[in-house]
Amino acid sequence: AAPPRATTPPMGWNDWNSFRCGITETIVKETADALVRTGLRDAGYRYVNVDDCWASARDTEGHLTADPVTFPSGMAALASYVHARGLRFGIYTAAGAKTCEGRPASGGHYEQDARDFADWGVDYVKLDWCGAQGDPYQLTTRFRAALDATGRSVVLGVSRHGNPWTWPSRPADLWRTSADIDDQWSSLLRNTEEETGLSTRAGRGQGWNDPDMLQIGNGGMSAEEYRAHLSLWSVLAAPLLMGNDVRTADRETLDILGNREVIAVDQDPLGLPGDRLGSDGDREVWTRRLAGGDVAVALFNRGATSTEIRTDARAVGLPQSPGYVLRDLWQHTSTSTVGGISAQVPPHGVVLFRVSVSPMWIEPQVT
Ligand code: GLA
Repeated sequence: AAPPRATTPPMGWNDWNSFRCGITETIVKETADALVRTGLRDAGYRYVNVDDCWASARDTEGHLTADPVTFPSGMAALASYVHARGLRFGIYTAAGAKTCEGRPASGGHYEQDARDFADWGVDYVKLDWCGAQGDPYQLTTRFRAALDATGRSVVLGVSRHGNPWTWPSRPADLWRTSADIDDQWSSLLRNTEEETGLSTRAGRGQGWNDPDMLQIGNGGMSAEEYRAHLSLWSVLAAPLLMGNDVRTADRETLDILGNREVIAVDQDPLGLPGDRLGSDGDREVWTRRLAGGDVAVALFNRGATSTEIRTDARAVGLPQSPGYVLRDLWQHTSTSTVGGISAQVPPHGVVLFRVSVSPMWIEPQVT
């Protein structure tokens, strides 16, 4: 059997949010170097994914070929450049004849394209839907079989067509749950909202709900909003695919993306996505059960004025205890509480806690 894929949500970078059809192999290579230089690779961001517009034609034998102007060295050379830096390589195609940008896609060529991708060293395929005809579950299952037949372990991400979180088996490792994200607060709210109630449809062994790639560092939102973005995505167990220009990212952006305590929530080994526990106007509480009995609690202020948001340890599912520790994953500080979990949350902000039963209240083992 092929080794398990994506046992935690995939992390990496995808060019689309910053470069669209302006992507080139030079940008991809420079980004791979930047992931190493900035420490983001070592923080967990492993995939370097090329989105739409790399393909330009099929050759006389039906092989998909890279755009000779923007990817003159070809995809195999690019994959080996990426691999040489301890990173993994991803590519984009679609289930029908054309991609969303009208480039040639994999319709009618699933087996041939899957073999070529494997030969090139592709580790991740984003299979889009745009213009495809047929049943998304059947086509995705067929594409999965074509990938498996190559013997290479390849992560497969799909769009939301056919509601992949409802399928009887999971040919994809991740699936979009919403429309394309924009670099603005209203879009972040919409894509978060679309995930409510879907937490049981995803997780370790099933695959991951994907509220779309990150916009952190792209300039349309404030640092507060970008911290909320990473906080919410981590509580949702969402894939963390950066969508900024990593080559020129400033310190504040790198600090947000590289926050290892928040990343640890996203990558928690229990692999259970979180969900909304409750809301009161613009005040929301989202929770996620973590390995070892901890709970991640996101106090989420959707509104434009600062507000206090409160819940308590029992409400978020922790066992009865005389005391708990609240670890603030952005401030990197710990406080103790007898049960109350509350914070003054800035506008468009999230205060993210990891809550544990206080170790001083854990019964010593009698031997
Ligand atoms: C769709 C996808 C996007 C991106 C574009 C590329 O819109 O949802 O993420 O891949 O296609 O054309």
